[in-house]
Amino acid sequence: MSVADYFSSMDYGPATESDAPARAWLAAHAARLGHFIDGRHAAPVQGQWFETREPASGALLASVAQGSADDVDAAVQAARRAQPHWLALGGHGRARHLYALARMLQKHSRLYAVLEALDNGKPLRETRDLDIPLAARHFLYHAGWAQLQDSEFRDYEPQGVVGQIIPWNFPLLMLAWKIAPALAMGNCVVLKPAEFTPLTALLFAELAARAGLPPGVLNVVAGDGATGAALVEHAGVDKIAFTGSTEVGRAIRSRTAGSGKALTLELGGKSPFIVFENADLDAAVEGVVDAIWFNQGEVCCAGSRLLVQEGVADDFIRRLKRRMESLRLGDPLDKTIDMGAIVDPSQLARIAGLVEAGRAEGAQIWQAPGVPAGGCFYPPTLVTGVSTASVLMREEIFGPVLAAMSFRNKDEAVELANNTRYGLAASVWTENISLALEVAPALAAGVVWINATNLFDAAAGFGGYRESGYGREGGREGLYEYLKLRAWSRLRVRAPQDGPSAAGAPAVAPLPGAGGTPGADRADSDAADTGPGHAWAVPPIDRTPKLYIGGKQVRPDAGGTLSVPDARGGLAGEVAAGNRKDIRNAVAAARRAAAWSRATGHARSQVLYFVAENLAQRRDEFADRLAAVAGTPLAAALDEVERSLARLFFHAAWADKFDGAVHAPPMRAAVLAMHEPLGVVGIVCPDEQPLLSMVSLLAPVIAMGNRAVVVPGRVNPLAATDLYQVFETSDVPGGVVNIVTGERAGLAACLAAHDDVDAVWSFGCAATAREVEALSVGNLKRTFVDHGRCVDWSDDAVAQDPLFLRQAVQVKNVWIPYGD
Ligand code: NAI
Repeated sequence: MSVADYFSSMDYGPATESDAPARAWLAAHAARLGHFIDGRHAAPVQGQWFETREPASGALLASVAQGSADDVDAAVQAARRAQPHWLALGGHGRARHLYALARMLQKHSRLYAVLEALDNGKPLRETRDLDIPLAARHFLYHAGWAQLQDSEFRDYEPQGVVGQIIPWNFPLLMLAWKIAPALAMGNCVVLKPAEFTPLTALLFAELAARAGLPPGVLNVVAGDGATGAALVEHAGVDKIAFTGSTEVGRAIRSRTAGSGKALTLELGGKSPFIVFENADLDAAVEGVVDAIWFNQGEVCCAGSRLLVQEGVADDFIRRLKRRMESLRLGDPLDKTIDMGAIVDPSQLARIAGLVEAGRAEGAQIWQAPGVPAGGCFYPPTLVTGVSTASVLMREEIFGPVLAAMSFRNKDEAVELANNTRYGLAASVWTENISLALEVAPALAAGVVWINATNLFDAAAGFGGYRESGYGREGGREGLYEYLKLRAWSRLRVRAPQDGPSAAGAPAVAPLPGAGGTPGADRADSDAADTGPGHAWAVPPIDRTPKLYIGGKQVRPDAGGTLSVPDARGGLAGEVAAGNRKDIRNAVAAARRAAAWSRATGHARSQVLYFVAENLAQRRDEFADRLAAVAGTPLAAALDEVERSLARLFFHAAWADKFDGAVHAPPMRAAVLAMHEPLGVVGIVCPDEQPLLSMVSLLAPVIAMGNRAVVVPGRVNPLAATDLYQVFETSDVPGGVVNIVTGERAGLAACLAAHDDVDAVWSFGCAATAREVEALSVGNLKRTFVDHGRCVDWSDDAVAQDPLFLRQAVQVKNVWIPYGD
């Protein structure tokens, strides 16, 4: 067509970016790219290669090394060798390197933008304006944190060698999100890019080396899921950071359970896009375009469920269809297109398959015209006539498919929005700021955008609630994911045979006839080292504490008891033998106590002070009990009670001070990083310092607004049951603290497997920690475990580190555009 023709038709003319620099780079490598290990390209040890193709045309781009366990091992070893030197460079030295990486990205931005568009199929307009500048911003922002590390994170040290596995939807941007904080904090990295899109990661590693990044600091091993699995399995890796599907995230959680490897998971989503009738509808239509047709909808936080208030629903859908008709699909290098190609024929088939499954269920499918012939293209798609049960409302499609429903009022909007197993993001559109700020806290999502969508920045943490994973990327909170508390790392790890006897006292034992101890048949060390020989001693028993559930003392379901031996081998008392049903009841009571999570920090601190006040009144009685049961000398027992009081004061103090933050991203928006409770937290207590350890774990959990189900340690569960009498008199609302005594490993397993429990903390036994991690995969609950480390709960440097408070909250980032 001539220019004159374009003027007469008013159609867009193509404005295609040259692919020459990217082709030249590929040609320089003879279109055959090895891994990048220890500062240079490396051919695969097993000699296997795979192909990466252009989704827009199907043309071959390059052959890329397929990583084997040997390649992974070489990369991990290179990272291990480099890490002490990288750390020794100091914060300023690393800041200079990160700054150099940012500058390197900026200098070669067009090359990256073109290569990314070719390999992934996404529009150059997006790689040029978003992926690459934002990647550079991540390195600049984290150069700042590297500079500040020595002063801001004095008590922390790097994890060591970090394995990072990333998906194909934002190949270079994900690389930046992953490696910038890791490198800034002194870790070395082995990164595995996705098999569909390995090229920009390999280019980055090469140019980083040219920019002076020392060998071994960043290693890239290309390959598929098997390569990723080899990285996850490698014993030399200290932490795994994964972004990808929930299914693979689950598999990684299972495989790392009990290994001591730290883990963060950024998984899938099915995010709601809520339009109230008082929204600026045209602005909201543009919002939808960015929410679901940006990056072909291949976005983990895509606003894929449209919820529109019924009064404006028809009008909104009409406007949306009109806008869809003007969206242009085509060659990713054409700067006038809105949507490029889907990453791979397999993903295209998956999208098409899900849409057909929706059609078969009766959904109405509306697709914009104008799909280019050839290549992996899928049109912008709007689905109506669906219910909450429809496959297209439930499944993450990871494509340009929007499923729409209407709602009547605010409460229904929130209910529909939260009706998903995911919790990554949400978008709220209304001109009424009060309504927006009422809805944002009610949404179960790690990010909430108000009158905006898909905004990202290095200063604002990103990450999910529920099955969207855990951990945050970006912001100060993202740095802690690549650090560990120095004092924590120095703790002794107990030998497997260490049991309560090593702590100087025997453990609870079932009384003859005691029934219903779940997991009693488990062959783990927790159950196996239960001290024998005390069940037949018959000193006087004054009373048997019951379970404490929903603010009431209740008999255990199966009615059994466990004996609690005293320090001299006599019988100190009995506790109820709780079972799976008791845990279920306790969890249900904790769920009902949701008002606690909405109470103010001030109100929660008052209750914690009151608990301390009432415990202080019974100080001598508690000390006597500790001395009698655990054999603690009386002076030490008094000290334990005093420290427990101080710990309660400590967390009462923080209850109204452990604030979030307001971030200032480089755009007109404020981001409220709010600390929100996790919900229901299971706490499995250690045997040592029975009162102090339980208080140290429980106090931060409830101070931050969670409700707890506590399984006391084995040596002196009576310390815990005595405490419920204190709770009863201290205005602790029923259900906020629930105590289930019984066989610890079995009860811990019940908590870890329970889908209404949001997190489990497990201390005091490595085997139980492993099982808790392994069983947490059902709803991908957060876990906080000691992996068998011996925590001295009197040591404030460990037990009062903000680590405990951080573990008790999740950060919700609420983006509020403001100003001009
Ligand atoms: P995936 O989760 O299989 O792949 C993500 C990364 O994990 C890739 O680098 C892959 O090689 C690696 N991987 C695969 N299996 C692994 C294993 N067993 N151990 C370690 N690493 C492993 O995602 P895939 O297959 O590319 O996409 C499938 C679906 O997952 C998409 O349709 C979408 O629904 C979802 N997805 C979600 C993403 C997100 O950011 N939330 C990103 C990519 C995919």
